[in-house]
Amino acid sequence: MLPKSMFPRSPFSRGHRKSWPIHLAFFSVSAAIALALLSNAVTLAFAQNQNPQRQSKTASAAPNVARGKYLVEGVAMCGQCHTPRDSHGNLDRTRWLQGAPVPWLPAKPDSDWPLNAPRIGGTPPANDADMIKLLTTGVWTTGDRLRLPMPQFRMDRSDAEAVVAYLKSLTPQQ
Ligand code: HEC
Repeated sequence: MLPKSMFPRSPFSRGHRKSWPIHLAFFSVSAAIALALLSNAVTLAFAQNQNPQRQSKTASAAPNVARGKYLVEGVAMCGQCHTPRDSHGNLDRTRWLQGAPVPWLPAKPDSDWPLNAPRIGGTPPANDADMIKLLTTGVWTTGDRLRLPMPQFRMDRSDAEAVVAYLKSLTPQQ
């Protein structure tokens, strides 16, 4: 027979009524944590599967160009000035960003008002660094600002890079 002292009484074993709920509490807490971690992992895996960019073959280049397209077409509206219009005044998508006569005159006569918004789609008119400088600071290769109505953009660098990536993805049409 082993001496009784080899089996010290557990603090929980004094009464079954008290010990069971504590074990149960520990069990429930760890089960809850495990469940939470598991469902997080499942949600994440599901979300990643749903992300079309992850499935595309050109995952590295695509997001920048897509964002640039969105900024050019939906936010900065470069096409309003840099794309020619048809006889109804609609933008001519077959000559998208290929340069156009400026469609507006200034409210006050201005002898320095540009008549043309040059081609920017296809090979942009300056290298990447100069294009990004224009879009982030408003300063062109001349060291000066371009004339109105060309807006003075102050994009952040990643937006400017996306715009340039998109412009370069277009085919020049002249
Ligand atoms: C409201 C009209 C307008 C909008 C919108 C506009 N531009 Fe312009 N842009 C012009 C005009 C006009 C010029 C010519 C300015 C000059 O001659 O000083 C110009 C010039 C430029 C030039 C210099 C081209 C060269 O060869 O000298 C670049 C580059 C340019 N724009 C890029 C853009 C981009 C990119 C966007 C959109 C993110 C944009 N522009 C939006 C009117 C516009």
